[in-house]
Amino acid sequence: MNKRVAIIGAGPSGLAQLRAFQSAQAKGADIPELVCFEKQSDWGGMWNYTWRTGLDENGEPVHGSMYRYLWSNGPKECLEFADYTFEEHFGKQIASYPPREVLFDYIKGRVEKADVRKYIRFNTPVRHITFDADTKMFTVEVQDHNTGNSYSEEFDYVVCASGHFSTPKVPEFPGFGTFGGRILHAHDFRDALEFKDKDILIVGASYSAEDIGSQCYKYGARSITSCYRTAPMGFKWPENWEEKPNLTHVDVENAYFADGTSKKIDAIILCTGYLHHFPFLDDELALKTDNRLWPLDLYKGVVWEDNPQFFYVGMQDQWYSFNMFDAQAWFVRDIILGRIPLPSKEEMTADSLKWREEELALETAKEMYEFQGAYILHLIEQTDYPTFDIDGVNRTFLEWKNHKKENIMTFRDHSYASLMTGTMAPPHHTPWLDALDDSMEAYLGDAETEAKKAS
Ligand SMILES: Cc1cc2nc3c(=O)[nH]c(=O)nc-3n(C[C@H](O)[C@H](O)[C@H](O)COP(=O)(O)OP(=O)(O)OC[C@H]3O[C@@H](n4cnc5c(N)ncnc54)[C@H](O)[C@@H]3O)c2cc1C
Ligand SMILES: NC(=O)c1ccc[n+]([C@@H]2O[C@H](COP(=O)([O-])OP(=O)(O)OC[C@H]3O[C@@H](n4cnc5c(N)ncnc54)[C@H](OP(=O)(O)O)[C@@H]3O)[C@@H](O)[C@H]2O)c1
Repeated sequence: MNKRVAIIGAGPSGLAQLRAFQSAQAKGADIPELVCFEKQSDWGGMWNYTWRTGLDENGEPVHGSMYRYLWSNGPKECLEFADYTFEEHFGKQIASYPPREVLFDYIKGRVEKADVRKYIRFNTPVRHITFDADTKMFTVEVQDHNTGNSYSEEFDYVVCASGHFSTPKVPEFPGFGTFGGRILHAHDFRDALEFKDKDILIVGASYSAEDIGSQCYKYGARSITSCYRTAPMGFKWPENWEEKPNLTHVDVENAYFADGTSKKIDAIILCTGYLHHFPFLDDELALKTDNRLWPLDLYKGVVWEDNPQFFYVGMQDQWYSFNMFDAQAWFVRDIILGRIPLPSKEEMTADSLKWREEELALETAKEMYEFQGAYILHLIEQTDYPTFDIDGVNRTFLEWKNHKKENIMTFRDHSYASLMTGTMAPPHHTPWLDALDDSMEAYLGDAETEAKKAS
């Protein structure tokens, strides 16, 4: 096959795309030439931790939004790869809520085994992509920070897997210009110890708010005040955590809320979400959406309806993550390999609108992850990605939600069975709240891992 495919980003979504093609090749298929452009110096996307904030060593905006001490916020059983289990990677079953480094190791294990690193050009941000309607080819312009040079290459297909939790959405509230403490977005939060003995204000009521607040509580913040725009998180918070309606304004040292109350605070962390941001794409290729389960203009959630040689992987809000990216990547692969035909643009749009209608009718969290699970099943039924027990994953999500409701500071102490192998995860050796060391050695707690890391 003399076609060329550009993949933008070597995070879990881009790596899923590489693995999808490699798996077809391993079964005898003729695959296109693959080039994956990655702006960071290593793979893993968000999971490749950096202490940096602002600009990176090449002057590029730092991609990473993960922080020290981050543990998976959902059970690992819900994100397990169907073609590479935790047991295969670690040689045993491990507890259900691994810290970042453990998940990073797991992500790397599959792609090392598949030997796809050779397709990736690191330190190479994509600058601009254009499509020539006459030649039907994309020109991808990149900067190679290894050499300092820019260059362009032509491709038949482009898969955009650049992530969407990297460019912060930063609102301003009256008084921010004269507040006496630090104001930062979750994207720039790194070490909770910075806020030990401080009174912090968290703006937002979603996963970052819940988790960054919990980190700060765990590592000794004096008090946490969180505030919401639409609805409170509503968990049973520890006694030094108060939830309030939205912020109205601040002065030098106080925050004022919509219910007329105020609180003295030392720092403000804006957990206000992220923008889908594609500065390297022309308008006619750029997805415009907020963070939701069914962005429009993407047939089956992946094909850019205006130009079906262009694909996006991983652009939905995520209950499911790694195995959803796999389902999408396998589907995209099979379109490129000519195994899945595409209908007319009108039919693609009509199909997307049907999914959107269903999305708009969703009310509960349970309905939402069931919707995403049904979407994944719909994709994998059309490819050779190993099918798995989606109903079982949905049940695990429900248990997880209930455990959070019971106690937001202990939900990570629960264990679940793998939906891929059936093996029950062992309980973790230390309750999450007491586990201050989040290293892989501490988590796995064995000499074997120390030896693996040292080698
Ligand atoms: C704080 C935080 C915590 C999270 N925790 C969890 C969790 O516990 N469990 C879970 O399942 N998910 C979690 N997620 C969701 C997470 O985004 C996904 O797990 C996953 O990383 C998404 O993979 P991705 O490849 O789509 O995007 P990313 O991981 O963001 O990777 C995108 C890649 O594209 C590269 N890139 C971007 N622009 C360019 C360019 N112009 N040129 C070249 N390369 C480019 C980036 O450098 C990056 O490597 C979390 C997200 C955040 C922000
Ligand atoms: N440990 C972990 O695994 C972990 C930790 C953190 C994040 N994550 C992941 O990161 C992703 C992003 O989560 P996120 O919480 O950053 O983003 P998000 O889910 O998009 O939530 C953004 C929040 O900000 C609020 N908000 C936005 N603009 C606001 C404004 N002007 N004023 C007040 N509030 C405002 C929103 O309120 P409305 O509801 O009113 O819109 C919402 O509560 C998720 O996939 C999550 O799973 C994982």
